[in-house]
Amino acid sequence: MAERRLVPAPATGRHPGWPARLGPLRVAAGVVELRKPRLTDASAWSRVRLADRHHLESWEPTVPGTWEERNGVLSWPSQCSTLRALGRRGMSLPFVILVDGRLAGQITVGNVVRGSLCSAWVGYWVTSRLTGGGVATAAVALVVDHCFAVAGLHRLEATVRPENVPSLRVLEKLGFRREGVFERYLDVAGAWRDHFCLALTTEDVPNGLVSLLLASGRAHID
Ligand code: ACO
Repeated sequence: MAERRLVPAPATGRHPGWPARLGPLRVAAGVVELRKPRLTDASAWSRVRLADRHHLESWEPTVPGTWEERNGVLSWPSQCSTLRALGRRGMSLPFVILVDGRLAGQITVGNVVRGSLCSAWVGYWVTSRLTGGGVATAAVALVVDHCFAVAGLHRLEATVRPENVPSLRVLEKLGFRREGVFERYLDVAGAWRDHFCLALTTEDVPNGLVSLLLASGRAHID
């Protein structure tokens, strides 16, 4: 049996893989980079989220408060601080997605479990302004390679509503395996929704996902 490399949770100090700056990668929509969330992202984040309510709301977990309350400028500092605290503790790897230097979405690796599991989930959103431009695909590829090569994870899972065709397409372009259906899994847009579970392990992508995107011509390095 091949020897496995287990990365224990560090007792103190920095955790492997976060903070980090990932990219740049050029796709059809522009140049994609990922970095940690900053308090100064408040107005750009809020502007995009308020304008994109109809694009985002059907796919996001149900949380208390109106869309305006949850996505106003004033709600960002606590969300940003929570994300960064989870990142510092090694429980999450939260990133904002920049396209040509402008905030265009978020991608988060959450529920990081180490020990003999070394697994986490990945979730993301991208502004409707850039739909179909390859941004989410590039962001997921960058994050997966980083989690496997630097953060010491072995498996990444994504759960997606069966109706979310664009998100399923993102994951299937990258070779995520559809492993099954989680019934009534998550409260999304006000009801318990079934989700497909898709996953990748390090063995699936020995040369990484960015190299696949570069080879297919879907992404370029300037
Ligand atoms: N039917 C079929 N295919 C579609 C449709 C559609 N209605 N809309 C888009 N697509 C395709 C695109 O053509 C593209 O495929 P292609 O490259 O083969 O042409 C693919 O879906 C989308 O790929 P990207 O361009 O990389 O993705 P994009 O940057 O547009 O972001 C995303 C996709 C993240 C789903 C975005 O639309 C979004 O934020 N939606 C709302 C929030 C959301 O659904 N987040 C994901 C939740 S699930 C999760 O986080 C695991």
